[in-house]
Amino acid sequence: MARPKVQFVCQNCGTVHTRWAGKCDGCGEWNTIVEDDPAGGIGSGPGKPRTKGKPVALTSLSGDIEDAPRIETGIAELDRVTGGGFVRGSALLVGGDPGIGKSTLLMQAAAALARKGHSVIYVSGEEAVAQIRLRAQRLGAADTDVMLAAETNVEDILATVAQGNRPDLVIIDSIQTLWSDMAESAPGTVTQVRTGAQAMIRFAKQTGAAVVLVGHVTKEGQIAGPRVVEHMVDAVLYFEGDRGHHYRILRTVKNRFGPTDEIGVFEMSDKGLGEVANPSELFLGERNEKAPGASVFAGMEGTRPVLVEVQALVAPSPLGTPRRAVVGWDSARLSMVLAVLEAHCGVRLAQHDVYLNIAGGYRISEPAADLAVASALVSSLAGLALPADCVYFGEISLSGAVRPVAHTAQRLKEAEKLGFGRAVLPKGSADLPKSANGSWNTVDALADLVVGIAGAKAQLAQDEDE
Ligand code: TYD
Ligand code: MG
Repeated sequence: MARPKVQFVCQNCGTVHTRWAGKCDGCGEWNTIVEDDPAGGIGSGPGKPRTKGKPVALTSLSGDIEDAPRIETGIAELDRVTGGGFVRGSALLVGGDPGIGKSTLLMQAAAALARKGHSVIYVSGEEAVAQIRLRAQRLGAADTDVMLAAETNVEDILATVAQGNRPDLVIIDSIQTLWSDMAESAPGTVTQVRTGAQAMIRFAKQTGAAVVLVGHVTKEGQIAGPRVVEHMVDAVLYFEGDRGHHYRILRTVKNRFGPTDEIGVFEMSDKGLGEVANPSELFLGERNEKAPGASVFAGMEGTRPVLVEVQALVAPSPLGTPRRAVVGWDSARLSMVLAVLEAHCGVRLAQHDVYLNIAGGYRISEPAADLAVASALVSSLAGLALPADCVYFGEISLSGAVRPVAHTAQRLKEAEKLGFGRAVLPKGSADLPKSANGSWNTVDALADLVVGIAGAKAQLAQDEDE
């Protein structure tokens, strides 16, 4: 008889090994490989008897859809990110660092839905019922009829939620605490998390309830243990933010039922998370308009324009290899912008340390920020503050040209709304609106921008001499 095959699974990346090793070949992590029982729920071990499948009934695409397909929470920032509310019969994963506010957000969402008459079950494996009640009191949600349970066993959870009427929303906080009788490894391991998540997702699909899974993120930025869970669920949201700042950003990473480039902005206070309807005001709040090295970027987050401050510090370096440090932006893109400044604009930065920071702990992923970054760098090098009422956006190509980007009109409209009368933007931008009282300065090469800033500095020096 063949011996049941034992396999070893890396708890960090999920790579399967045939024998134990100290280091995982897949991700290079040490001490992450754990013996795994292949009969434990997932996959079929070779020892399992083969059973014949039974046919399922096939249906057509058209047909009645019971209930409204989405459940709106009424928390606008959350509904925007999910694409208009939780989808019935779908599973959603909310990831984030421990302590960032995932439980707070979901408790607020649960309370909002319960107030609207939906039935919501909140299962916590992290806190006792008394602790959850305490938080609910703080959030002013204690009077709602959200049903609570402190439980970690998947089978018990399923038996509980399957009683009585089907719930509209089930929140599992968190998947790392789930464990199933079906799998033999310890809670928090890949097998357990995967088995638990799979059981909850199956429950969602079968009953049409929306399921929200909470997952902690490791220091590497992955949802701990299973990247596999990200593939299994319908949507993945990341809750992020800086501990030093009081606002939090909810970002869509994956969404089978909606857009993936939306963000929701919240502010953490002693009464929980509040919605921030106008994030630009928040990000520009602490701006020092006279400081050199700062420029305002008119960015887009999904359908929404957001203005953020880009800060640069360029200083002569005492080191042989100057430092380049970036917070909130891509460091490879910074290297590219620096190279273009050197090669096409005669700006020498090889002997300088360069620090770049996006204000308020915000993170930019758009290439349209290139122009704002370049202007902040040149401004810092020249020691000259940029005009306080000017925004910058445009993509820089390796040839030194400034390329048009999408949503010009929306970016400019947001800028005008917040009192920015001027803009530097790519020449050839489509849908350039006529400004009522602003002035748009279009540039087609990065060198034009540098000449503009250098010219302003020369003018200033001349004025001081006179
Ligand atoms: P929590 O939702 O427990 O985080 P997570 O579930 O992501 O681990 O949030 C914990 C943090 O939020 C904690 O540092 C305290 C803070 N907080 C407030 O500032 N105000 C509040 O009203 C609440 C409930 C929490
Ligand atoms: Mg929590």
